Amino acid sequence: MILPVIMAGGSGSRLWPLSRQLYPKQFLSLCGDQTMLQQTCSRLAGLQHLPPLLVCGEEHRFTVAEQLRVAQQNHSGIILEPAGRNTAPAVALAALHSLASGEGDPLLLVLAADHVIRDAAAFRQAVVEASNFAEEGALVTFGIVPTEPETGYGYIHRGAQRSSGSHSAFTVDRFVEKPDRATAEKYLQSQEYLWNSGMFLFRASRYIEELGRHRPDILSACERALAGASLDVDFIRPEQNAFLECPEDSIDYAVMEKTHDAVVIPLDCGWSDLGSWSALWEISDKDAHGNTASGDVILHDSRNCYVQSDSKLIALIGLDNLVVVESDDAIMVAAKHRVQEVKKIVELLKAEN
Ligand code: GDD
Ligand code: MG
Repeated sequence: MILPVIMAGGSGSRLWPLSRQLYPKQFLSLCGDQTMLQQTCSRLAGLQHLPPLLVCGEEHRFTVAEQLRVAQQNHSGIILEPAGRNTAPAVALAALHSLASGEGDPLLLVLAADHVIRDAAAFRQAVVEASNFAEEGALVTFGIVPTEPETGYGYIHRGAQRSSGSHSAFTVDRFVEKPDRATAEKYLQSQEYLWNSGMFLFRASRYIEELGRHRPDILSACERALAGASLDVDFIRPEQNAFLECPEDSIDYAVMEKTHDAVVIPLDCGWSDLGSWSALWEISDKDAHGNTASGDVILHDSRNCYVQSDSKLIALIGLDNLVVVESDDAIMVAAKHRVQEVKKIVELLKAEN
């Protein structure tokens, strides 16, 4: 059976000033009425699965519980991390918890809580295809055809075709997490690479085996944290001291770059990580001049801008490729091709506080 594991502990700092420490992007409604977290749950409808298991930071427990309640979404529990240790430990807690809770050895469908997927049916179809390989023990990733030399993604070099019954996928020849710009450009030109979508499907026991092989330090800290876990209605709290000792690493570096048993299923479902303001501009509806505007905005002789006003009137005259975002306590103006650097502003603000 498929157990969706929704990772909802990221900080989403690239969408500052909208996305904040206490309200990162997975909890915002960035496209459509539902929040990104609610959309992640909703698109599972139609797939045979157990209620999802959530993993998030202690500070977000009420936001997660409330957003699920409003969406009338059942769940199998909410694991609360005392502090973020990135996704390798988050998935380890979910895998260990699922193995201990008598569900057998479920197929974990690991999902980010903050992705846009336009074609949910294509996504579900790919999960069904993937389950054949995951049942055979493979660690499946979903690969997106790259359109630009994005350095914020993992890249997968496709290997030989692999079949399971009538289903086909590719072995992962190489997995490179977040290459530099020059390498990403080379990969894009070669047309042999796919982007890692950050969603995975594997048996809980296979993830634990691979983590134990490549990062036994992370596994043993998570085992100790879960052995001492406390249960508070829906909330599962790993033992704090053991988890705080856990090294920080992402599933991509800790497992996917290292395992020899990865398989990639190509996925064409209108996917976006929405990792930046320019990604949001790309998927949003635009006027005849390529502008996206929300709130009280006047645009004169301006092209390809993303403008979002919260309470004030924003007027642009003769400007191209600009991002302007106003929130109740900050205004950000940025060149659209440099919006990744918003992270630097967030770091600067953190250092000041
Ligand atoms: N519970 C929990 N705890 N969740 C976390 C933590 C954590 O410590 N850190 C991150 N997450 C969640 C985020 O909220 C997001 O939903 C997901 O895990 C992925 O984390 P990101 O921080 O957004 O990763 P990324 O975008 O830099 O990179 C990953 O996704 C890319 C595609 O979007 C990688 O898998 C890349 O290889 C991939 O291309
Ligand atoms: Mg991301």
